[in-house]
Amino acid sequence: MRCVYCMAEDMEFLPRADVLDFAEMERLCAAFIRRGVTRIRLTGGEPLVRRDIDTLIRSLGRWLRPQDSFAPGLDELTLTTNGSQLRQHAKALYEAGIRRVNVSLDTLDPERFAAVTRRGRLHQTLDGIQAALDSGIAVRVNTVAMADVNDREFDRLIGWCGEIGADLCLIETMPMGDTGEDRRGQYLPLVDIRRDLATRWTLEPLTVRTGGPARYVRVAETGRKLGFITPLSHNFCESCNRVRLSCTGRLYTCLGQEDGADLRAVLREGGSDDQIAATIDDALSHKPKGHDFVIGRRGGGVSGPARHMSVTGG
Ligand code: 5AD
Repeated sequence: MRCVYCMAEDMEFLPRADVLDFAEMERLCAAFIRRGVTRIRLTGGEPLVRRDIDTLIRSLGRWLRPQDSFAPGLDELTLTTNGSQLRQHAKALYEAGIRRVNVSLDTLDPERFAAVTRRGRLHQTLDGIQAALDSGIAVRVNTVAMADVNDREFDRLIGWCGEIGADLCLIETMPMGDTGEDRRGQYLPLVDIRRDLATRWTLEPLTVRTGGPARYVRVAETGRKLGFITPLSHNFCESCNRVRLSCTGRLYTCLGQEDGADLRAVLREGGSDDQIAATIDDALSHKPKGHDFVIGRRGGGVSGPARHMSVTGG
């Protein structure tokens, strides 16, 4: 897919040699885990289109540790996916230890879905979601809120998620890269949406934060969680504990900044485990205080990093 907020329509695949192979990824993941990382999320682009992805997921799954363990290891391995390939992978994901996935889905209207994803087919993603749920994997639907695209669908999405037994998370559109679409008119502050939804749904605040950027309520009518990711209207930078690794081994310590480190260079220059750990520590000690995304209301300015969201996932 080439979702309009995430990628340019006209893109080129990287030369294969630039992309980390599985051994390199596993080595870096192990280095992060030894430095205290306890959760890994595979994102994209689209993780499930990588050839033999089940092999990587299975080997990362071996790091999952029992709840009461203090040994270096993972408490959670998750995935963010467009869902189109989920049916083929759901069983393998479950067997590798994945218990929760985020699936990007902005609309339940087939034509609108095709327009937003530029080439996706709604029925495939819906089928993938069902396959995940049937395999025992919990699903959170990620919906990027866009004015004049899906802003009249939130009630329907909340109701539908209740029916299928999924959580929902609304996300403010972030200005990442030039995707060939002018997003100025698309930004919807979720504080306003939440206030509006609260006139029709009973939204019970949940105070437990999950370590991620979403703030959750429980929708009493459906019993499901509804999250809000609000980098623009109400940023959560002060509690952000995330770092992101691109497929080329570039570490980004903030979604909205270029700070980080080139871990592939350390790997390919024959760096030792200690050198990798030192590079990670140094980058983390300079994690930016926050992003400075700007999307003005209609007619206003836009600023964010040049890199597309597809480089790092959300
Ligand atoms: N702004 C907000 N959310 C985005 N996503 C992708 N690009 C953007 C953007 N520019 C969402 C996708 C996916 C998650 C990783 O981030 O819907 O679910």
